[in-house]
Amino acid sequence: QGGEMIQLKSESEIDGIRTSGHMLAEMFEEIGPEIQAGMSTWDVDKLFHDWMKRHHAGAPCVGYMGYPAATCVSVNDMVIHGIPSKTEILKDGDIVSVDICLEKNGFISDSTHTYEIGTVSPDVHKLNVETEKSLYLGIEAAGKPGARIQDIAAAVSGHCRKFGYGVVRDYCGHGVGFEMHEDPEIPNYVSLMNPNPRIRKGMVFAIEPMINMGTYKIRTEPDGWGVKTADGKPACHWEHTVAMTDSGLEILTRI
Ligand code: MF3
Ligand code: CO
Repeated sequence: QGGEMIQLKSESEIDGIRTSGHMLAEMFEEIGPEIQAGMSTWDVDKLFHDWMKRHHAGAPCVGYMGYPAATCVSVNDMVIHGIPSKTEILKDGDIVSVDICLEKNGFISDSTHTYEIGTVSPDVHKLNVETEKSLYLGIEAAGKPGARIQDIAAAVSGHCRKFGYGVVRDYCGHGVGFEMHEDPEIPNYVSLMNPNPRIRKGMVFAIEPMINMGTYKIRTEPDGWGVKTADGKPACHWEHTVAMTDSGLEILTRI
């Protein structure tokens, strides 16, 4: 469909991606609580990157199309792909998404958490809660018998629309496992223009709602990586890698 090449994974390959995903989940559990006000986004990247080195896991983001870090650390109106910086200091009331790909034994998993620094405003907290909720609604939709890729978008955008949030259209989830980005694309909005393959056994992909408090429109930073909301309002991002197996849809990046 549409020239897509979806690489189905065998059970042993899914096993490999599961090992990678569980390491990633364990790392988020361990390092997440250490993220706090006063740290730079570079410090945050270093915490995760050092963990990966200690556990002999690869950081495939390093050098990916010239990307200079192991993680993407995106603060407030940065939606995705924030490059860690020694001069960007986290402060009380910020939100920060940490997006990480981890490689173990050649298998890649991908996950994102958005952390709240100290106390954030109630509307920002709500944006974060509802973005994470939309991820789980997308996962639930993908797990229904006969589900297709656009059922994910319907669930994510259907939920976020209720709050007037902007659903980012220019970036999508994606197949993952052998490489960081594989087919199919997993958009968070529904369009008749998009391919809509059925979700089959052996498919492994990342679902990643990027949800803005205001407009869905984004713009790219002069560094060529950072993606910010066009109106300067905050954005949240949550992501899991999932696999369709004989026993249903499994979240690989959660323990
Ligand atoms: N995890 C990111 C994604 O899902 C990877 C960004 S590419 C990087 O697209 F080079 F910035 F890491
Ligand atoms: Co991703």
